[in-house]
Amino acid sequence: MGRSGCDGCSRRDLIRGLALGAAGVALAACGRGDESGPDAAPDGPPADAAQPLTAPCGANVCIDLTNPAAARLLTAGGTEVIFAAGARLIVLRDSASSFVVLSDVCTHAGCAVSFNATLDQMTCPCHGSRFDLTGAVVRGPATKALKAYATTFDQTAQLLTILL
Ligand code: FES
Repeated sequence: MGRSGCDGCSRRDLIRGLALGAAGVALAACGRGDESGPDAAPDGPPADAAQPLTAPCGANVCIDLTNPAAARLLTAGGTEVIFAAGARLIVLRDSASSFVVLSDVCTHAGCAVSFNATLDQMTCPCHGSRFDLTGAVVRGPATKALKAYATTFDQTAQLLTILL
């Protein structure tokens, strides 16, 4: 057996093989390439990250409905869960021009509520509490209403403002 383990290989073949091996090690050291590659922002999200659903607007939070991330809020009955002011909120498009925003945290034991279009209520999957669209308890075991947030909707600008 020869020195290189490749009897019959030329010196050029050996050097090419070593170079390719070193390149493979260098690529492996780069990880997945989406965090340390030349296109990644140093401390931010990847360049192709989707636009966030919400944005601060003064002391409130706004949702631009022209944003593709807001697609579920384009039709009545559509919902999105957002995080604002340290709270998890459920945003429901109630009609073409109105929205309901409630705390998404059941007041019984903290499970996430969701919109039930058949009942036109928020329902909790954990123990069955139900809340109307003002946040009031319709059925227990919860006894305390979901916190409700006022909204304004600029139809021309397609901008929903949630008043915090
Ligand atoms: S956590 Fe919602 S009903 Fe118990």
